[in-house]
Amino acid sequence: MRKSALPALIKGRRTVLRKHNPKTAAEIFAAIDKDRKRLGRFLPWVALTKAPEDTEAFIAASLEKWAARDSFHYALFAAEGGFAGGLGLFNIQWPHDCGEIGYWLSRECEGRGLMSDAVAALESAAFKKGFHRLEIRCDAANGKSAALAARRGYRLDGRLAEDRRIGRRYGDTLIFGKVKRAKPSGA
Ligand SMILES: CC(C)(COP(=O)(O)OP(=O)(O)OC[C@H]1O[C@@H](n2cnc3c(N)ncnc32)[C@H](O)[C@@H]1OP(=O)(O)O)[C@@H](O)C(=O)NCCC(=O)NCCS
Repeated sequence: MRKSALPALIKGRRTVLRKHNPKTAAEIFAAIDKDRKRLGRFLPWVALTKAPEDTEAFIAASLEKWAARDSFHYALFAAEGGFAGGLGLFNIQWPHDCGEIGYWLSRECEGRGLMSDAVAALESAAFKKGFHRLEIRCDAANGKSAALAARRGYRLDGRLAEDRRIGRRYGDTLIFGKVKRAKPSGA
């Protein structure tokens, strides 16, 4: 597939995905900062996000990567308004039409189906663009992330033994995959 960008704005049924904007940095940092323990359990970048400038640097880097078609990271909002979290498509292998989806939600937004909705919208945009396979990778102890992958119809393709170090422990990674299927004729 030829390198090209995903839409800067994607609307789900209950969520809106917006390409990152430096103006949202303070809000994103505040959401991370007040929920470090929960988010940091499975997201190594949380410990590296120590000050608002770190989120500003993340957004600047994400915009550069967007321009280079290396990855597409979005801020997530509930459709009725209000920052909810972040998600993105990265580890893109353009020659193979593959990419990986990652995500996080603020605590208040968890348990409402918002990330499933956002992932559905991101998937749909990616498949429309020409992606053939999407992956979700998560720590084997991350039940909520694995449940989301299953809820969205991803198949468990494999498990990597102790390939990730989080703090003092090594964790297994689950690899979930979903491939685009042509709609049956007449559908
Ligand atoms: C992983 C994470 C995004 C999952 O969030 P989530 O809210 O559980 O995910 P979903 O959007 O799929 O919502 C599903 C939950 O909403 C409930 N729900 C309510 N309305 C729903 C609807 N219309 N559709 C689907 N689910 C709905 C489901 O019952 C489920 O709740 P449960 O976990 O109590 O069974 C979130 O736990 C998180 O941010 N964790 C910390 C960061 C992290 O681990 N990121 C992933 C790294 S791989």
